[in-house]
Formats: sequence, structure tokens, C-alpha cells
Amino acid sequence: MTVRCAVLGLGRLGHHHAKNLATHQVSGAKLVSVVDPLGERAEQFAREYGIEHWTKNPDDVFEDPTIDAVVIVTPTSTHAEMIAKAAKNGKAIFVEKPLTQSLEEADDIIQTIQETGVICQVGFMRRFDPAYAEAKRRIEAGDIGKPIYFKGITRDAGSPPAEFIQHSGRVFLDVSIHDYDIARYLMGAEITSVSAHGRVLLHSFMKEFKDVDQAITYVHFDSGAAGDIEASRNSPYGHDIRTEIIGTEGSLFIGTLRNQNVTLLNSKGSTYEIIPDFQTRFNDAYRLELVHFIECVQNRQTPKVTEIDGKVNLKIAIAATESFDSGKTVWLEGHVAEQTR
Ligand SMILES: NC(=O)c1ccc[n+]([C@@H]2O[C@H](COP(=O)([O-])OP(=O)(O)OC[C@H]3O[C@@H](n4cnc5c(N)ncnc54)[C@H](O)[C@@H]3O)[C@@H](O)[C@H]2O)c1
Repeated sequence: MTVRCAVLGLGRLGHHHAKNLATHQVSGAKLVSVVDPLGERAEQFAREYGIEHWTKNPDDVFEDPTIDAVVIVTPTSTHAEMIAKAAKNGKAIFVEKPLTQSLEEADDIIQTIQETGVICQVGFMRRFDPAYAEAKRRIEAGDIGKPIYFKGITRDAGSPPAEFIQHSGRVFLDVSIHDYDIARYLMGAEITSVSAHGRVLLHSFMKEFKDVDQAITYVHFDSGAAGDIEASRNSPYGHDIRTEIIGTEGSLFIGTLRNQNVTLLNSKGSTYEIIPDFQTRFNDAYRLELVHFIECVQNRQTPKVTEIDGKVNLKIAIAATESFDSGKTVWLEGHVAEQTR
């Protein structure tokens, strides 16, 4: 069965997902419609990639019975409404992280998803990245013993524009949430407390949105492990994603700054090209997560990362935001039983 898909939102990441679908990188999927209120964006994409339909209005897609699945890459503040409409119209749902902006919204849409029985996958793509997948395999094989410390570095080359920051839910929901998810996954444990700090170092416009461009979350896990998670928008040298897991019998380092395995040596010294942006670093992962989603739609299977993981990660991110705002450690309780790590 070919899964007829629509992509909603053709911005920084939506364009990337739509291109993967349009250029047949995702077997079993056919991109039949693209949606963006900036009509010229949708029209131009449809023309360039030969997509049969484009529209400014998401309802055109939700109400189209020939569309099986939607890929929601709209601003975070719109996710809850998009997911609810998609579920009520029986569409399989791939939604970018974070699931929603509030726990109330998350509970509402989880209920709707369960009542309608649609599939929902959330875009925590690191789980599909070959390096993180290999690290998971090594941890499960016992190669580093028991994981006892997680260190996550996520540095963006710069800040997205103010319009994005305004709808992003602030740095812990927008950036650190990737590390909360992969930390839970790799450590095989749940986060039980967060202590978060941050500051505006470079991008002063963020103060208007109570956001920061440099943040740190210190976490405890229910396994007894601990960790620290840095999020930064201040990395002019490139997109810098590194993770370290310390175990009782060894360590794992995941990630590199190198874009290609080429080093230039000349009279000025040696240089290599650094990964420029998230689309480049996670090119494989963005494709592989959609491959998994389409397989789940075709086989009516539950995806590896569902709305339940989406809610657990959101809960951690909201607790971190509360900790940042209050200056106090926040303890998380009651989510261990509902997760699907
Ligand atoms: N997984 C990742 O690594 C990752 C990376 C970047 C962004 N994201 C997530 O993807 C989402 C989009 O981020 P972005 O950086 O692409 O944002 P963006 O601002 O670059 O693009 C958003 C696009 O959505 C369009 N849009 C706005 N309202 C819409 C609506 N109601 N229906 C359809 N389209 C609408 C906008 O016109 C714009 O083209 C956010 O939730 C963000 O958190 C995830």
C-alpha cells in the first residue's frame, strides 16, 4: 500500500521532510499535498517537485479522504490543534517535537488519539541516527557496564528569528528536549529531578520572550545516575552535537564536529569543515524516522516514539522551565509508569 502524505509547514525543517518525501527517499510514501499559509512557499515547492496539490489551508488536507498521513512541521504553538484535527479525520500523524506546548494540550490530544485509534509518531529523530542507534546497541550489549553519567551538548550555529522563538516554548522545550529524550533512551532510566539555569549571552531580543540563548539542566535518574545537558544558540563555528555516556566499565562518545572525513593541510596549518546545521547533521535520521513512520502506517504498528514519549519529554522540559524561572530544583513524579522507553 502506498501511503499518501501531506506535509504541513514548509519552513526550516518542513522543507527538508517534504523534499525527502518528494524525492522518493522514503519508500512506500507518496507526497500528494503541501500546506503553508505562506502560499508562495507551498506553490513554489509543488511546482519544483511536481506535487499534485498545494494549499494555504490545513483543513483542505484534513478533510481530503484520499490523504492517509500528515507530517506536521508547523510552529510548536499550533501542534495541538493540528494533531486534534488530523486524528478526528483519521489521518496517521507524524508531528515534530515538542508534542504540544502544555501538559493540558498533551492530555487532550492523547485522549483524542486513543479514541480515534490513529498512529502518532513524534519527531525525536536522534533515536534513528546511526551513531545513537549504535551507542544504544553497545550499552545494551553491556560494553560500558552500567550507565552512571550522561553529558549532552547541543549547540546551534545561531538563533532562529524572533518569530520562531516567540512560538517555540522557550529553550528547554525547543532544544534541550532532544537531550531529555535521548538521555532517557540511552540511560535506560527516567529523569526524576531537574535543576535548570540559563542566561542571555548574545541574542538580547530573547529577553522579550523570557528565553535564553545558553542553558544548562542538571538531572537525576531513577537508576541513581546523574547528568548535565547544555543547550546553546551561540556556536558561530557550526552545529555542535556531542553526547557522552559514562558507564561503570567504560565510556561512549557520540558525535563529531567534522562534516567530512577530510583534513586540509597547508602552510597555514590544518583545517577541516565543521557540520553547518541540523539538517546536515541529522540528514540520515530525518529520513530514517519517516521510513519507520511509513512502515508503521502500512503494518498498523505502534511507532518507536509515540505521543506518550512526547508527553514524558514535555513534562521534563516544563519542569526544567519551572526550575529556571523559580531557581529551585523540580522533582518529577508519576510519569515512569506511562512511558514507553
Ligand atoms: N526535530 C528537529 O530537529 C527539529 C528541528 C527544527 C524544528 N523542529 C520543529 O519543527 C517545527 C517547525 O520548526 P521550523 O524550524 O521548521 O519552523 P519555521 O518557522 O522555519 O517554519 C514553520 C512553517 O510553518 C508554516 N505555518 C505556520 N502556521 C501554519 C499552519 N497553521 N499550517 C501550515 N503551516 C503553517 C510557516 O509559514 C512556516 O513556513 C517546530 O515545532 C520545531 O520545534 C524540529
